[in-house]
Amino acid sequence: MTAKATIERILTPDVQDRLFRPTGEAIGLPGAAYTDPAFFAAERELTFARNWVCAGVANDLPNQGDQVPLELAGMPLLLVHGTDGVIRAFHNICRHRGAQLVSSPVQRGVVLCPYHAWSYGLDGTLLRTPSFCGPGVNTHDGFDASKHGLLPIRCELWGPLIFINLDPDAAPLDATLAPLKQRWAAYDFSLLRPGGGLRFTLDANWKLAIENFVERYHLPFVHPQLNSVSSVKHTLHITDGDGFVGVGSRNFAPPPVTPDHLLPHFPGLDEAASTKAEYVELFPNVMIGVHYNHVYAFIIQPITVDHTVERFEFFFVGDDAMTPELAPARAQMIDLINLVNGEDIDIVQRLHIGCRSPAMHGSVFSPVMEDTKHKFQRIVVERLMENVRK
Ligand code: FES
Ligand SMILES: [Fe+2]
Repeated sequence: MTAKATIERILTPDVQDRLFRPTGEAIGLPGAAYTDPAFFAAERELTFARNWVCAGVANDLPNQGDQVPLELAGMPLLLVHGTDGVIRAFHNICRHRGAQLVSSPVQRGVVLCPYHAWSYGLDGTLLRTPSFCGPGVNTHDGFDASKHGLLPIRCELWGPLIFINLDPDAAPLDATLAPLKQRWAAYDFSLLRPGGGLRFTLDANWKLAIENFVERYHLPFVHPQLNSVSSVKHTLHITDGDGFVGVGSRNFAPPPVTPDHLLPHFPGLDEAASTKAEYVELFPNVMIGVHYNHVYAFIIQPITVDHTVERFEFFFVGDDAMTPELAPARAQMIDLINLVNGEDIDIVQRLHIGCRSPAMHGSVFSPVMEDTKHKFQRIVVERLMENVRK
């Protein structure tokens, strides 16, 4: 069945009509949108292979020669840190017989195929094809090495975030980011310094992890500790973005670990921003938490329809934030998310179990607390339908 036929089977006109009503009257996506393997395959083809997707962070490959394999939309891909300092993305397949080139992170001066030892420069150029035409004879007149370099994929960075796009015709990353960059113009992302990460796996569809993240209705019930430092009473909703949606807190106020050692703030923030936190889902797979004293990226990697890997990567503000004295203050932020996301995993997995029921025809939404979740579901459908029509 084609992606188009699958989308039309699950996102029927009736389902779409109910979803696109005002939030208080709308009905959300049916369970099949979270559990049907054919729907997941269609999302790979129409969403993950057609939008700018967060593939990781620059500190995954800090040094020249660093090579990191990844999978996107079911395809083996490779990130490479070049001798010119540029991070590039390629299809992770050899141009000889198509063997996967790199299977785990490595640092090397060339990209080396383990099968017949073809090697590529860090910019993807085919360099050597040893004994291709017999022992000691590396090439022949009819073979043009310049036509057999690694196949490049569009790759651009925003601060420490690496984005890739498998669609050669997609608009530049900046077109996607411009409204969010404008929203966060006061935060100088060039100051961000990597300060640690967390990794989780969960047996749930990728969209459920995001929907849970863009809704703070559940804070008092699931996250009492978070609610005490970032109360649901101070929630703000971000629903006016193009391709992004989020929540926030007007008063993010964890108690200082040691009053003498406070994390540096972004310089130049106004008074409101100095207590605020915003958590934005940038479609499809990265949520960015921006606080006055740190930023995190919450990167979602869909593995199968019901299995998802989650990464959090934390960044602090400037070199002064990275001193040993501030280690407890940095750890406080990471520990808080470790606790909170641990609490979320059971809930998100329960959502997935519910979606397996044929009785799960779609959720209702609070018009006050869940307009963000409703907006995310509309973005999911809008992007699929746009790409179905192309
Ligand atoms: S498959 Fe890579 S060198 Fe043969
Ligand atoms: Fe939560």
